[in-house]
Amino acid sequence: MHNSLFTPMKNLLPIFLAFLFLNLIACEPKKPAPEKDNLEGKAWWKEGVLYQIYPQSFKDTDGDGYGDFKGVIEKLDYLESLGITMVWMNPFFESPMVDNGYDVSDYRGINPRYGTMEDFQAMLDGMHARGIKFVLDVVVNHSSDQHDWFLQSRSSRDNPYRDYYHWWPAEKGTPPYRHSLFDPEGAWEYDSLTNAFYLHTFAEQQPDLNWENPKVRQEVYDIMKFWAEKGVDGFRMDAFQFASKDTTWPEFPEGHEKDFIKWYGMRPQLHEYLKEMYAEVIEPYGVFAVAEGAGSTFQDAHDLVDADRKELQMAYHFETVDLSRTPEGYDLADFKNVFSKWDSAFAEKGWISIFLSNHDNARMVNRFANPDPKFITPSTQLINTFLMSMRGTPFTYYGDEIGMTNIDMPTIEEYVDVEALGKYQAAKSSGQDMEEFMQILNYNSRENGRTPMQWDATLQAGFTTGTPWMRVNPNYTEINVSAQDQDPTSILNHFRKMTKVRKENPALVYGKYELVQKEHPDIYAFTRKGEGQNLMVILNFSKNSSSIKLDQLPTESNLIINNYSDVNVNDQDMSLNLKPYQALIFSFD
Ligand code: GLC
Repeated sequence: MHNSLFTPMKNLLPIFLAFLFLNLIACEPKKPAPEKDNLEGKAWWKEGVLYQIYPQSFKDTDGDGYGDFKGVIEKLDYLESLGITMVWMNPFFESPMVDNGYDVSDYRGINPRYGTMEDFQAMLDGMHARGIKFVLDVVVNHSSDQHDWFLQSRSSRDNPYRDYYHWWPAEKGTPPYRHSLFDPEGAWEYDSLTNAFYLHTFAEQQPDLNWENPKVRQEVYDIMKFWAEKGVDGFRMDAFQFASKDTTWPEFPEGHEKDFIKWYGMRPQLHEYLKEMYAEVIEPYGVFAVAEGAGSTFQDAHDLVDADRKELQMAYHFETVDLSRTPEGYDLADFKNVFSKWDSAFAEKGWISIFLSNHDNARMVNRFANPDPKFITPSTQLINTFLMSMRGTPFTYYGDEIGMTNIDMPTIEEYVDVEALGKYQAAKSSGQDMEEFMQILNYNSRENGRTPMQWDATLQAGFTTGTPWMRVNPNYTEINVSAQDQDPTSILNHFRKMTKVRKENPALVYGKYELVQKEHPDIYAFTRKGEGQNLMVILNFSKNSSSIKLDQLPTESNLIINNYSDVNVNDQDMSLNLKPYQALIFSFD
């Protein structure tokens, strides 16, 4: 009996094995398994440090006054020396440059100002050879009005590209008022060619793409695939919260500029689009994606980056950069609150980026550190220590590793930025106090963050041999890479130490964050615990000395980083006395 059962099984074994083998072949992925993608747990994009390059301002090699790819290639060793592991570069595509490249007229073409596709490839290969990943800026909430899609779309009402954009036929009357971020006259623009209005959330030359149209979405995925095939490792989705908008076109209620996203963006369809994008591009190509904006609620943020939902891997919010918009600065208590709140939102799931500046903001040093020459070094080191110690991927904006500051531009004539000019017009027509307006613009404008990189003390800061597209900050003779490169106490070398500290201490990446003495008026202290480590981060945000009592104190052997040469502890009363802007990290049991 036993035998009779066993025999047929034995005869079936080769068939079963063949079946198993065929199945294994069938299941084998067509493409090599994407080793770069890891939504759960540990991931390279969580462990990395990102450096943002504004290509126009980084390094010019042909003397035309604009930075270029060859300039970045020339500085690859510098990038490697920083210890950064990812580069996000602002748009370099074909563009009429109304919004410095955020108005794209050909998503596959390179603006000759920056070089050629071969130069791009050489730059990308050079980064990869140094272990640096590349993040591409994808500007697809809108295109340029010079993009072929828009030229077609506006040419006639029955053009196949008509529905690539949002149109309002004039026979329906004037569309309900919508606020525009850049255009004081609102977001609908009349186009006489077809007697209709088109929508532009940003400048008039940046018409919004219609994401409800599946063809538009497919075009975008094809563009992303094109770049993924060239080898880019990630995407930054520009202004993406607006991709899905309320197309019942409600009237914009006055005074709601701050709730802009709530009124116009983050519609539920956004999640559907992202899921589609994830399945089409992100997963099969093993790339990662970070969105500009995290919605207007924690739930939004969660849903965007919750790994189980397969939408995005990372998002960033504006609550911290919004803290310091006027020369009065910010309150440390608010600063702690915002960072702690967002950390708790992602305590279990999801991931954010940690940043205090970028191309849309004035310089971090002026807004969050202290540009006074007496304090600029320790205070910038403190801020950089902070950025590298939080949970979330640190994003460093070019120049912040050497403490570049705002430039003084007190009169409107010097401004070229579409946002600044739009705000100026709006302020003027609403009768604002223009002196006060200019003071705030001078402090807060994004032109501050776009001045050429300060490489050395030679003419034009070593950025160009020609006339730079934007004035070099006159403080380049003091603040520059060359002056700091060999000085072990410089902002630059502190930055390099911090990228190393972050790499060597996984608790800084994955560890749990907990505030210590939340109410302390000068000191931001917190612990990071995990990966077998307990770390304490102590930052004196004041220009005066300050002290804090702790259960554990730093010693020679547990000190991980210190931006001064000594530490002043009092074992008697367990207090730690910190110098102005002193920043420490130490481990404890
Ligand atoms: C994003 C970009 C900004 C640009 C805007 C319109 O906010 O960061 O620089 O002006 O989108 O594309």
